[in-house]
Amino acid sequence: MTTPGIYAAKTPAGLSPPPLKPASFLKTIRASSENPFEIIPLEAYEQPFYLSKSPLGKVLMVNDPEGVRRVLLDNVANYPKNDLEIEFFSAMFGEGLLSAPFAKWRTHRRVMAPSFGIRTVESYAPAMVDATVAFARRWDAQPEFSEVDIAAEMNALTLKIICRTMFSSDAEELAACAHEALEFAQTSMDFGLLDILPLLGPWRIKRTVSAIRAHFSGMDTAIYRLINEREKIREEAPQDFLTRLIVAKDPDNGVGLNATEVRDEVITIFMAGHETTAVTMTWVWYLLSQHPAEEAKLHQELEAVLGGRDPTVEDLANLSYARMIIEEAMRLFPPAPGMSIRQARAADEVCGFKVMPGQQLLISPWILHRHRRLWDNPERFDPTRFTKEASEKRPRFSYLPFGGGPRVCIGATLALTEATLILAVLGQRFRLRLKEPQEIKLQTRITLRPKNGMVTILERRRTQTRS
Ligand code: HEM
Repeated sequence: MTTPGIYAAKTPAGLSPPPLKPASFLKTIRASSENPFEIIPLEAYEQPFYLSKSPLGKVLMVNDPEGVRRVLLDNVANYPKNDLEIEFFSAMFGEGLLSAPFAKWRTHRRVMAPSFGIRTVESYAPAMVDATVAFARRWDAQPEFSEVDIAAEMNALTLKIICRTMFSSDAEELAACAHEALEFAQTSMDFGLLDILPLLGPWRIKRTVSAIRAHFSGMDTAIYRLINEREKIREEAPQDFLTRLIVAKDPDNGVGLNATEVRDEVITIFMAGHETTAVTMTWVWYLLSQHPAEEAKLHQELEAVLGGRDPTVEDLANLSYARMIIEEAMRLFPPAPGMSIRQARAADEVCGFKVMPGQQLLISPWILHRHRRLWDNPERFDPTRFTKEASEKRPRFSYLPFGGGPRVCIGATLALTEATLILAVLGQRFRLRLKEPQEIKLQTRITLRPKNGMVTILERRRTQTRS
């Protein structure tokens, strides 16, 4: 049986084939507040680069692995993140890793790296499984065929996991503020016609940035309380991310992080570390609900490897099909679809295009992952693209859910481990059917979400788990 392409299955609204021509002025403005990818013309998906000229400016979209490599790795110093992005991120995260100036970023990245290494991540696996099993019990307590908004549910679960793994607690006060602040930031980034007008535009953007900053500062009390409590119990403090951050020293000068720096990194990890994994899992459930053959293959793997027990870190190597489903879901629905706009400092050449100082460049996993030259039948859901052999043959910079180069996602191993364990725990117990009729609308702000959530129907699987 052939798997239907994603256009043939229940397709999210706005995910029709790319238009042949650039969009009109009004359409561009409208799309930029919801899903800017729906107006990117076919040419961008066929050529190594595409120069987009819109009322929002001229942006060079680099869609060729060698060109991406040049921007993100080989000549990375020439391509810092653009000013507007830094302004928004620093309103949310101060000078955390996502927005810190270069020197601070380099020191903090070194200080934080051990908390995200493979051994440390493996030590978080039991907490990830426990949190997911507790979550499954909550689902279990609901009547058969209950409706759940899977996007909201995955958000709640990943928030719990980030609290348990990074801060060894449920940190509920912080979790509640974090969720609210992130929602506010995502809805505030709703740019429209007024935002591109001279004078009025910059004023409106400044006002949005201040409002976001005010919302995020609401979290400070909760974070400082967490830090103070930890400092009081230094000797017996759990060896988690927060403790590591508090005691960390710069290897060059032996200086530790001050309270504001710890706060900024805590918020960054809180935010960057849960929403992205939540949207990944939302699209995983969506795709499985549309592709029963692949879902059945997953169930076979879960049965063969786990036979009803809960997974441990040792099982990860054998849950290869589960992992391939997650990787393919992140190809079709990259959680950070626009990743980042970089801004050239000096002249350069990328894929034969003469880049001038000040040029904005977009590296977009959404376009790269659907590029006609890089993927065979790109819209088709096919987890076998991610067998070990197929992945090894692919150019490194053609698949970028976690970015690339020195600013590659620090939490990639953690996210993949977490997503695989969630899929194994919940996939053994439940199937999720998409409620019909329902229009799934894509929304791209920072992450790629279903705009109005995603209502699914919980079905218990007959296989009984032995936990
Ligand atoms: C599926 C889940 C995730 C996806 C798709 C994802 C994606 C990304 C991407 C694309 C970047 C690079 C941004 C750029 O270059 O502009 C990034 C950076 C980052 N991510 Fe993730 N991320 C995920 C999970 C996580 C987790 C679990 C954490 C932490 C617990 C995390 C923390 C960070 C941080 C701190 C950075 C900034 C790194 C730096 O600039 O040095 N992410 N992420």
